[in-house]
Amino acid sequence: MTTELTPTHVDELVRGVDGWFGGREGRLLYRLAASADPAGAIVEIGSWQGRSTIWLAAGACAGRGARVVAIDPHRGTSLRTGDESTEAALRANLDSAGLAGAVEVVVATSEEAVDGWTRPVSLLWIDGDHSYEGALRDLDLWEPHLADGAAVAFHDTFVWRGPERVFRERIAGSRDYTGFEWAETTSAARRCGRLSWREDVARRTAVARRAAYGIRLRAYDGNMLGYARLRDVLTNRRSETLK
Ligand SMILES: C[S@@+](CC[C@H](N)C(=O)[O-])C[C@H]1O[C@@H](n2cnc3c(N)ncnc32)[C@H](O)[C@@H]1O
Repeated sequence: MTTELTPTHVDELVRGVDGWFGGREGRLLYRLAASADPAGAIVEIGSWQGRSTIWLAAGACAGRGARVVAIDPHRGTSLRTGDESTEAALRANLDSAGLAGAVEVVVATSEEAVDGWTRPVSLLWIDGDHSYEGALRDLDLWEPHLADGAAVAFHDTFVWRGPERVFRERIAGSRDYTGFEWAETTSAARRCGRLSWREDVARRTAVARRAAYGIRLRAYDGNMLGYARLRDVLTNRRSETLK
């Protein structure tokens, strides 16, 4: 039994879930999941306690109904000390969102989970090991399973060197991907076939716009006394106002 949730409902729901994933990027993931072909799976690498998993599963249930495979060894993260497993919290959070039936929880690393994998992937969401080598390995391992037109999204681009470099080199720098979208620190694109010159110009323009957004975001992040930050302090607004 799964529940159909609007983005506004999901936004409220995930406020009670520990994690590092915002509402604007959540809506992007929700849309990508809603349009994911159910002949393939939505693969999440790095679930933690389920913020992004909930956005993915809610989008899939409201859309075409692709299943979510949530892969994480649940042994903690470099972002948080303590070695308690996060699997129970993930399952409890999916249960209370009414989305447990839409998600296969896989307690394994991405490297272990891809071993013997045979299903096409219609959406690949990478939020696991944030080192350059780790993010690159995740893309290398799963990219061969992407269906035509599949979407790939990375968390913590722009502000984390590893995911940003992999996205720039392997996605933005490749003519195999187009349809770029970004929100907060998430960047996404779609696998494509050969593009016409017009489509290629549109692709290059989107890549340039994305780079400009990254410069603004980094300037905003690094400039403690900048206008935007001062305005946020005065008006109590958050960086979600960007884009
Ligand atoms: C930043 S957290 C993910 C946050 C989550 N997406 C959210 O929305 O809250 C990173 C997660 O990646 C997991 N992880 C680290 N290396 C991994 C790997 N090789 N394969 C799969 N997951 C991995 C960690 O266990 C951790 O839970």
